[in-house]
Amino acid sequence: MIAIGSDHGGYELKEAIKKHLDEKGIEYKDFGTFSEESVDYPDYALKVAEAVASGQFEKGILLCGTGVGISIAANKVPGIRAAHVSDAFSARYSKEHNNANVLCMGGRVVGPGLAAILVDEWLNAEFQGGRHQKRLDKITEIEKKYSR
Ligand code: RB5
Repeated sequence: MIAIGSDHGGYELKEAIKKHLDEKGIEYKDFGTFSEESVDYPDYALKVAEAVASGQFEKGILLCGTGVGISIAANKVPGIRAAHVSDAFSARYSKEHNNANVLCMGGRVVGPGLAAILVDEWLNAEFQGGRHQKRLDKITEIEKKYSR
């Protein structure tokens, strides 16, 4: 089950991605926003990031205008590895190498066709473990170092 969310800048792309997920029969929960009215992206990053970090949802998708702000905010939640992507190679390797549990894109950057490809690359890829796990463990150590 995927948790999906956006601010107003990512709203239109969120709706397009939901349609794509519907067509593929992939289940999701929409955490908002639900219109193009201006909102603050950290609020939606937090909702989706907590849903994933708690284990309630396996993966998350987050959109804002550029994908930058919402990925920065999501990555503040311990356990979140949010990948901001706009090309298929990065989308695939964000899972294979980084085990990204949240995919971020910019609604003012990526069109709906490319977004569908990026989502599919990420969803169909598998984490390769091994030397990559060692590196993720080091990221967890950084989180621990700065957690209060
Ligand atoms: C909102 O105007 C915009 O700043 C936001 O969607 C995003 O691009 C931030 O990184």
